Amino acid sequence: MASRRTLLAGGAAVLAAAAALGTFRWRQGASAYESAIAASRAALPPEPGLSDLVRYATLAANGHNTQPWRFAATPSGIAVTPDFSRRTPVVDPDDHHLFASLGCAAENFSLAARAAGRAGTPAIGAEGIEIDLAPATPAAGPLFAAIPHRQSTRSDYDGSTIEPALVDRLIAAAAGHGVEAIFISAPAEREAVLELVIAGNTAQLADPAFLRELKDWIRFSPAEAARRGDGLFAAASGNPALPDWAGRLVIDRVLTAEAENARYVRQIRSSSGLLVLVGPSDDPPGWMRAGLACQRLSLLATAEGLKLAFVNQAVEDLPSRTELRSLLGLGESRPDLVLRIGRAAPLPFSPRRPVETVLA
Ligand SMILES: Cc1cc2nc3c(=O)[nH]c(=O)nc-3n(C[C@H](O)[C@H](O)[C@H](O)COP(=O)(O)O)c2cc1C
Repeated sequence: MASRRTLLAGGAAVLAAAAALGTFRWRQGASAYESAIAASRAALPPEPGLSDLVRYATLAANGHNTQPWRFAATPSGIAVTPDFSRRTPVVDPDDHHLFASLGCAAENFSLAARAAGRAGTPAIGAEGIEIDLAPATPAAGPLFAAIPHRQSTRSDYDGSTIEPALVDRLIAAAAGHGVEAIFISAPAEREAVLELVIAGNTAQLADPAFLRELKDWIRFSPAEAARRGDGLFAAASGNPALPDWAGRLVIDRVLTAEAENARYVRQIRSSSGLLVLVGPSDDPPGWMRAGLACQRLSLLATAEGLKLAFVNQAVEDLPSRTELRSLLGLGESRPDLVLRIGRAAPLPFSPRRPVETVLA
């Protein structure tokens, strides 16, 4: 019969082997994530084809990183249309964010195409965006160069100010797409918007359906982020990456209104300012324009060494959106998107699905 000591030694060996296997798997996952990020964000080749341009388009901001888009070649360019199987019906019941995300992708596509010597302006239709391309002198400016570097940076910022001339350029970038960008940096106004973010966040986190949907899109480990190629990777949101089982175990305890609200107070107060984007109409074409403007403004900010993160709770929660509208004197116009802007170190990038899954 085995002695107690032999059994204990055997148990310790099994535990050590399990730990070694866990470490090995974690390293494998981390390296799969690094390779996937490097591949999705690699510079365009000297003569890019359509799938290279679409890859750059997919690096755009998009709600919950569901990547709710499909791309199809047209006789003279590309069509970007919704993938309704990737809706987020609780946080985005009218598909506002989904259509805004199409605008973000179309802005990237037209900048990438122009860098490759094909010019085309996004034409907004009721169901999507078409870009007809014509030969043009290649023009790869700073906005194009910023595409693989832009990210939603959900960390504390350094509290520095942004020079007024740069704020004017950010506002002009949005205006180029017919979208008003309102910059808020005065403490009293910033605190008023912060209150609405907190009210919206509190309401959302009290809703079990909202929590279920959000948790569905969280990817705790680098392996899962790389395998799925979508969703909210914990480390890209400024949280520690965890084994998936551990993430699922702790998420309910860390995702509380109290903890999240304290985080938003810190994050908004450490930002240089807030930006509220107001599109020309409260319908899918207007939402797509808000997306085009948002992406353009974000790329300019990135090119200028700034970081951004969305704090859309103030427009997702209906009572908060109504208050924001009257706070800013917007009349019947809809405040589409709220971002904070400032300076911070970069966070890990969020993943993307392979181009073949989105290009028909
Ligand atoms: C229309 C829209 C709404 C978004 N809303 C939020 C939000 O409320 N909170 C947030 O943290 N990120 C939000 N995001 C950012 C996305 O989660 C982010 O773009 C996505 O995860 C991809 O990451 P990346 O921007 O770093 O590439 C939004 C993005 C878009 C385009």
